[in-house]
Amino acid sequence: MSDTVLRLDGVSKSYGTVQAVDGASLEVDRGEVFTLLGPSGCGKTTTLRLVAGLEDPDGGEITLRGRLVASVARRLFVPPHKRNLGMVFQSYAIWPHMSVFENVAYPLKLRGVRGQAMRDRVAKVLELVGLGGLERRSATLLSGGQMQRLALCRALVYEPDLLLLDEPFSNLDAKLREQMRVELKLLQRRLGITVLFVTHDQIEALSLSNRIAVMSRGRAEQIGSPRSLYEQPASAFVRDFLGQTVILKGRVDRAESQTVAIALDGSLAGQTLAGRIAPGASLSEGAPAHVAVRPEDIEVGSNDRPAARGHTLVGVIEALLFVGDRYEARVALSEEQRILLFLARGGDWREGQQLQLHFPPDVVSVWPA
Ligand SMILES: Nc1ncnc2c1ncn2[C@@H]1O[C@H](COP(=O)(O)OP(=O)(O)O)[C@@H](O)[C@H]1O
Ligand SMILES: [Mg+2]
Repeated sequence: MSDTVLRLDGVSKSYGTVQAVDGASLEVDRGEVFTLLGPSGCGKTTTLRLVAGLEDPDGGEITLRGRLVASVARRLFVPPHKRNLGMVFQSYAIWPHMSVFENVAYPLKLRGVRGQAMRDRVAKVLELVGLGGLERRSATLLSGGQMQRLALCRALVYEPDLLLLDEPFSNLDAKLREQMRVELKLLQRRLGITVLFVTHDQIEALSLSNRIAVMSRGRAEQIGSPRSLYEQPASAFVRDFLGQTVILKGRVDRAESQTVAIALDGSLAGQTLAGRIAPGASLSEGAPAHVAVRPEDIEVGSNDRPAARGHTLVGVIEALLFVGDRYEARVALSEEQRILLFLARGGDWREGQQLQLHFPPDVVSVWPA
């Protein structure tokens, strides 16, 4: 038995002239949380609905645990209830006229599980998510977080091969979202369940996933671990969608095999930075280029405590925002060029202060403009 739970091969789906999913290919391994991440409208929900069988693709194939469940070429479309999937969608519906117990028991009844076996499984899954003891409560009397957990229970109780989650926390407030994130991660690990997760929230994706597919216009633009996507984005789209990026413009001054020196343009003319060439890019001397760096990778020194020498620019703090765990600062490198910087909470920062900014070449990437 292979360890691939789900495979999409060139799956497409259009609605009229809108190409919602455009030749998407990916594989989800047993026991992993695999996330589809991308901006609104990029085809995440449609992909999930195709996997669930709520929509039929108009191109490609979908395989679940080695079994073909959708194939356009073979005109084969297995209906949703024969795919053994659990689903929690954005607008999860708790059955309001039922108790907590009945909500979770219902999917088991549908599958012919009854009596003590049914009661045992309901009790076990409620216990798992911390709803034990609330069996008799009416589902409408639960808090938002409890309803969310109940929706999860309903999807988990029949032990699906794959759990599909479409922005399941989007109705919760920020604090609760964070809490549910951790709970889902712990639950997933305890059960060893395979999850296909959909979100437009990069923090949610980065923190929950074993692997992420960054989606753009109906296809997976890049697939990898959260850290590899963040540190080695293969395209400007992925780079800018995940996290913050400081971008400075210039021209290639000197190109070696791995690193390039960039002479900055405009108001920063006369200054040079260096960095690694972005994956797959080629840059010849004189070519216009973008220097990209994560704000947290810029090393900050002040006049009395200078940063390392070389690859350094000078900036002035224009606006300083305390956001709790750190400061976010708008720093002017010149009259025209401003960047976002993160400054440590413990530092003694003030607006108007001059900073020495060191751009270590190993964390700077250089892209064709
Ligand atoms: N039932 C539908 N009818 C027509 N267009 C749809 C339908 N469902 C989705 N779309 C369109 O397909 C594209 C992808 O939608 P969707 O998969 O919901 O994106 P996401 O979940 O990433 O926000 C969007 O342009 C959307 O308007
Ligand atoms: Mg959606």
